[in-house]
Amino acid sequence: MTIETTVPIEVASRLQGFDYAIRSIVAEAEAVERSGRTVHYLNIGDPVLFGFRTPPHLVETVARAMRDGHNGYTPASGIMPAREAVAAEYSSLGVPLSPDRVLLTSGTSEGIDLAISVLVDRGDEVLVPLPTYPFYTAVIGKLGARAVYYRTDPERGWEPDLDHLRSMIGPRTRALVVIDPNNPTGAVYGDATRRTLLELADRHNIVLLADEVYTDLVYDGPVPPIASFDPDAPVISFSSASKAYVAPGWRTGWMAVGAGERLDKVLAAVKRLADGRLCTNGPMQHAVAAALAGDRSYQHEFRRQLGERAALTARRLNAIDGVRCVPPAAAFYALPRFELPPGRTDFDFVKGLLRETGILCVHGSGFGMDPSAGYVRIIFLADPDRLGTYYDQIEAFTAAFRSA
Ligand SMILES: Cc1ncc(COP(=O)(O)O)c(C=O)c1O
Repeated sequence: MTIETTVPIEVASRLQGFDYAIRSIVAEAEAVERSGRTVHYLNIGDPVLFGFRTPPHLVETVARAMRDGHNGYTPASGIMPAREAVAAEYSSLGVPLSPDRVLLTSGTSEGIDLAISVLVDRGDEVLVPLPTYPFYTAVIGKLGARAVYYRTDPERGWEPDLDHLRSMIGPRTRALVVIDPNNPTGAVYGDATRRTLLELADRHNIVLLADEVYTDLVYDGPVPPIASFDPDAPVISFSSASKAYVAPGWRTGWMAVGAGERLDKVLAAVKRLADGRLCTNGPMQHAVAAALAGDRSYQHEFRRQLGERAALTARRLNAIDGVRCVPPAAAFYALPRFELPPGRTDFDFVKGLLRETGILCVHGSGFGMDPSAGYVRIIFLADPDRLGTYYDQIEAFTAAFRSA
């Protein structure tokens, strides 16, 4: 065959709106690795990478499911025992729910994609916190819709600025994303904030998309889903086995579509879309009931260790000249602010830190922040000794970067 042309094949223009900084920064790290330096990947929130173990009873449940021949397609919404377990979990936490309003998804991520896909047309708007978990803005961009940021405030523990949020609601607003507990800030919102967010969604008849993947990882103990404050509000909740159940690679999550009739059409549309991808990973679905209804005592120790590492992180970072860090209350993320010299960006800082020390963090602008504001997200899943070494290196690099 003769080659007629070598012109590169173009990709769809809507991909321009799809950016997921947590992974796209890895290209920088790979270049540094090729130069012979070891890279410490503090960019992705995977507890398994840092030695936390998937609970053996969940591994055994999945292995048994495979041995017992559960290797075929499942119903598109997921196997009934898993959906029943999710419904029972929400019901026990104050959100009465039947299994027919639950879908198993490929991680929280697929639930987010499905829900936003059925809600927005081109040009519609979705309210997203600033800073945000970047998959939201990526999906919204891919669909040709518009992410509209509402501020959250580091001076108030990264709680949402509710007046600002109110001022951003308009005729094209279709959904309100609430990430509580939060990635990248580690914030946990107060009950008054949760009630106001529900009230706003209710009054304006917009869907509250509740990202609740970290509710079990609040250091002071689990928090209930936001819908427990008003089970009739239009809420879709997302969670997964990725974080609190230490199995991110299983790509096993669930979404719970609120009980109100207002969401019946949305639920039907999500199910239609889900039919097209047949089902999620079958054997792993068997672990959902074991995860939710089985032994969770390992989560006590997980929360204790995270709390200890969060405190160490805030103490060490706040001791560095020109650095401020709001102490996280949940999960394994901190978003300190580094005072940058004029003209420098958070990306300059992250790239410099990577080249000088091999430590890979994610620039705050990857979460929507102003690049000159100097925010950088750090994952503190490493053991305290190792974290101490990282913070020594960050301290030395910060001093050099600020004086350069
Ligand atoms: C806030 C938030 N939502 C969703 C996800 C995606 O998680 P999953 O593995 O459940 O798709 C993450 C992962 O880091 C996250 O931090």
